[in-house]
Amino acid sequence: MNAITVRNLRKYYGATKAVDGVSFDVPQGEVVALLGPNGAGKTTTVEIIEGLREKDDGEIFYFEKKADHIDKTVKSQIGVQLQKTAFFEYLTVYETIELFAGLYNVKVQKSDIERLMNLVALQEKAKSRVRTLSGGQLQRLALAVSLVNDPKILFLDEPTTGLDPQARRHVWEIIEQLKQEGKTILLTTHYMEEAEKLADRVLIMDHGKIIASGTVQELIRSIDMESYIEFTTDKAQILQKEIPSLRVTDHEKLVLPVIDVEESIHMLLNKAKELAISIDNIVIRRPNLEDVFLNLTGRSLRD
Ligand SMILES: Nc1ncnc2c1ncn2[C@@H]1O[C@H](COP(=O)(O)OP(=O)(O)OP(=O)(O)O)[C@@H](O)[C@H]1O
Ligand SMILES: [Mg+2]
Repeated sequence: MNAITVRNLRKYYGATKAVDGVSFDVPQGEVVALLGPNGAGKTTTVEIIEGLREKDDGEIFYFEKKADHIDKTVKSQIGVQLQKTAFFEYLTVYETIELFAGLYNVKVQKSDIERLMNLVALQEKAKSRVRTLSGGQLQRLALAVSLVNDPKILFLDEPTTGLDPQARRHVWEIIEQLKQEGKTILLTTHYMEEAEKLADRVLIMDHGKIIASGTVQELIRSIDMESYIEFTTDKAQILQKEIPSLRVTDHEKLVLPVIDVEESIHMLLNKAKELAISIDNIVIRRPNLEDVFLNLTGRSLRD
């Protein structure tokens, strides 16, 4: 059973094709990640599905029932964490959850609010004002708020953007727990690590289109290259002339996509010796979603 089905979704803003014919399914109980760079159309896509924006064209189905309008029945089944959530700075964490429950028209007991605060590990902040929360705590509050109506489907728009690695891992753990509880989750991200860690299925989006989709393994296997040799050198240009498949990453590292690692390492070291170039920090790694994106678009996920 698909929790969400989208067919030929389209939304143009003047000349900008924000969403340009997007189709996909989100199977019930799965975590699906919409992965793409800034401006790819992720937020527009999810906000249309949530009923927060009008579509120009296309069809949306919730639990295989066509939803021409996102009505009360649908709304009672979905939870939404927006890319930016505005809270009242002078309310406490407890009061904020209570307020949002009121907005959703759901009756909550003290114990419900406590359960939510526990889930996102904010129980000790119950009486703290929102303005005193850290970025990670705010993101977790936004997560708690999206859960006040105990939704079957959860939309998370960049749930960890701007968080440090530890805060990010904490949010990941909460998302994994929500998945364990059987929730269906559609999340957007431009972190490939996030998609790799959480998603059963990844939709890679760019310029309003889904350019690839599948499990992380399927997407990675779609690249022929076996591995990547990464290294640094101060003579990148000379080496690039000699080895045309050599790429420069945004971190000034050089990357060589290879099939036979051993043979390629020899070739590389010999070339370096021959040209009297020193190379450093050699790392051999398997392909990841970043490589998939690069292969498809010629660009990096992060600009
Ligand atoms: N309300 C709007 N009016 C005009 N253009 C818009 C509007 N909303 C989005 N766009 C444009 O549509 C495109 C897609 O934007 P969207 O916010 O969906 O991207 P995104 O993938 O969520 O990006 P990000 O990772 O930065 O959040 C962008 O070019 C954006 O400028
Ligand atoms: Mg966005």
